[in-house]
Amino acid sequence: MGTKRHRITILFLLTVTAVMITVKARGEYSSPEQCDLFTGTWVVDESYPLYKPATCPFIEREFRCEANGRPDLIYTHYRWKPLSCNLLRFNGEDFLERMRGKSIMFVGDSLSRNQWQSMTCLLHSALPNSNYTVARVGDVSIFTFTEYEVKVMLDRNVYLVDVVREDIGRVLKLDSIEGSKLWNGVDMLIFNTWHWWYRRGPTQPWDYIEVGGEVMKDMDRMKAFERALITWAAWVDANIDPTKVRVFFQGISPSHYNGTLWNEPTAKSCIREKTPVPGSTYPGGLPPAVGVLKSVLSTIKKPVTLLDITTLSLLRKDGHPSIYGLFGLKGMDCSHWCLSGVPDFWNEILYNLI
Ligand SMILES: *[C@@H]1O[C@H](CO)[C@@H](O)[C@H](O)[C@H]1NC(C)=O
Ligand SMILES: *[C@@H]1O[C@H](CO)[C@@H](O)[C@H](O)[C@H]1NC(C)=O
Repeated sequence: MGTKRHRITILFLLTVTAVMITVKARGEYSSPEQCDLFTGTWVVDESYPLYKPATCPFIEREFRCEANGRPDLIYTHYRWKPLSCNLLRFNGEDFLERMRGKSIMFVGDSLSRNQWQSMTCLLHSALPNSNYTVARVGDVSIFTFTEYEVKVMLDRNVYLVDVVREDIGRVLKLDSIEGSKLWNGVDMLIFNTWHWWYRRGPTQPWDYIEVGGEVMKDMDRMKAFERALITWAAWVDANIDPTKVRVFFQGISPSHYNGTLWNEPTAKSCIREKTPVPGSTYPGGLPPAVGVLKSVLSTIKKPVTLLDITTLSLLRKDGHPSIYGLFGLKGMDCSHWCLSGVPDFWNEILYNLI
């Protein structure tokens, strides 16, 4: 009896091992949907970048680091490599073919503009002879690939919830989301809000906050951010038909102004950073906003995919414009990203998810 049980145990262990080996093998050669696309490392790959900035005439000065004089270009040759698979290389023609007749809209602040510009560059450089038009209607920029009838749009909306001019001044209304009118009928929506929540002083674009019928001069900014996300989440649940519309959240794009967080305590910014943080983890950990965002996303009943780009972007202390951005030597931009650069991989991941 004892021997028989022993044999069964061995058989059981062998089976478990075989299953584990199969799973592991599948993981290594897997298609991206079986693998965690957001845990990985940056590797040098001379076949990147996916486009030369010069082939994309409409990159704004803000992101055009090379033309603004950035001398080191190694940062453009890194590719994001998830630990257990390879990303499918972005294929602009395939993307446009699959989106034929459809519309995509990025909604959010200048980090959305960064990703939108990356997307239009990826698509245009793949098909440089395909006609396009660019138009602006109010706050919405519309890039149309006319032969494919694909619209790639940007709705500039830094809080997602409304800022309304009233008698007392400009009111940030955490429970109001009338701006959502512009999102109706779009086939793929990619939202983002974060960078404007801690603005104070002359660049803060509101005078009062209104929440739950109460108007106040200010409140805990992280709570305000969370409240706005809850309002947005309720809008998604009430308005999105998942059979027609695909919804993404861009995630929290990180800044690099404190070298202590990447074990370089003397660094006060991202200037002269030429290489990514090696490995898969960021010494400084995640910004607290990520936890708030994830907890609100977990309450949404409709399917929303988080482009969980925070860690992979945290590793790219070398990816920002620094003094090669909008204000040149007078500026120090360690918030936005050079193009070509990091947002191309946010889009490559997006491509792998659709
Ligand atoms: C692009 O537009 C031009 C001018 O309108 C037109 O002559 C050309 O045939 C178009 N190209 C394609 C590939 O549709
Ligand atoms: C940088 O980060 C460290 C670690 O979190 C913190 O102690 C320090 O105050 C920060 N420095 C600045 C200038 O914010």
